[in-house]
Amino acid sequence: MTQTHTIRRPDDWHLHLRDGDMLRAVLPATTEHFARAIIMPNLVPPVVTSADARAYRDRILAALPESADFTPLMTLYLTEDTDPQDVAEAHASGLITAVKLYPAGATTNSASGVANFDKVSAVLEKMAEIGLPLCTHGEVTDSAIDIFDREAVFIDRVLDPIRRRHPDLRVVMEHITTSQAVDYVRSVDAGLGATITTHHLVINRNHILAGGIKPHYYCLPVAKREEHRLALRSAATSGDRRFFLGTDSAPHTDANKLLPCGCAGCFTAPNTLSILAEVFEQDSALANLEAFTSLNGPAFYGLPLNEDTLTLVRDMPAFPGHIDTPDGPVTIFDPDMPLHWTA
Ligand code: DOR
Ligand code: ZN
Repeated sequence: MTQTHTIRRPDDWHLHLRDGDMLRAVLPATTEHFARAIIMPNLVPPVVTSADARAYRDRILAALPESADFTPLMTLYLTEDTDPQDVAEAHASGLITAVKLYPAGATTNSASGVANFDKVSAVLEKMAEIGLPLCTHGEVTDSAIDIFDREAVFIDRVLDPIRRRHPDLRVVMEHITTSQAVDYVRSVDAGLGATITTHHLVINRNHILAGGIKPHYYCLPVAKREEHRLALRSAATSGDRRFFLGTDSAPHTDANKLLPCGCAGCFTAPNTLSILAEVFEQDSALANLEAFTSLNGPAFYGLPLNEDTLTLVRDMPAFPGHIDTPDGPVTIFDPDMPLHWTA
């Protein structure tokens, strides 16, 4: 008899959908499996005001495949000029679910992010007051700090001081990549959560650098040593409510990945659930897959659980190497291991 595994329909708590042709090309891969996703605001130009977020949400809704049942959960891109009142109104109207903090220069399209964290204090205070979560890209940008240490240093230099200054602020550490981040999140009972990507559960830095440079495994925060990947796996597969799936699926055309200075990002939306089922099964934790993909995120955000379900079937899924878009091919993340579950 075919083995199956049924979970509540999952959500993606960190997703890049882009805009225009790319949005239309990548959106079906997410709506096929996910009910909701937190939509990252790092467009060019970024989604800074509530008017920007409303217009972007409408473009996403207009791009939905026919009969798709999908809710984009919008975010605002925090700048030093963000207006606390605009944020509060966007939250009160139900337009936004979170605000995203990019340290200026940390990653793709983060130039408008925050350089001086004192300048966003009033916004963070307002967010703490109204219960609106802050999603953080947790890396310092100090060129003196080794890129493999930037997440750990961010916790000490930026995140912990922000949390001390705003103790009621709800914070999500996005796409964590280190045991230090896992430990930090585990040290806090409430008000702090973390997303973990699919790819960081599967690759370590050898995948990027050993035996030739592999741009399709390059993302930010960059994958770290094996001991960190194992810490992430144990956090994700443990069922601990503080950890939930944020794929950070981040499509770039191959032309933009395969450059002397290529873009950061792994496109995991099409095969994420097959990979996760494999990972959780390998760790004898299939029973906790649903907590990671479908329960812990809504609980953190105070949103209802999805009512419908998704059934994984144990067989050999086949994924193409890439999807075609009007901008050119986008390579689908290669998990570098056989997969045995179809979503
Ligand atoms: O790998 C990444 N890609 N990390 C980010 O923080 C941004 C993202 C993107 O937008 O391409
Ligand atoms: Zn991201």
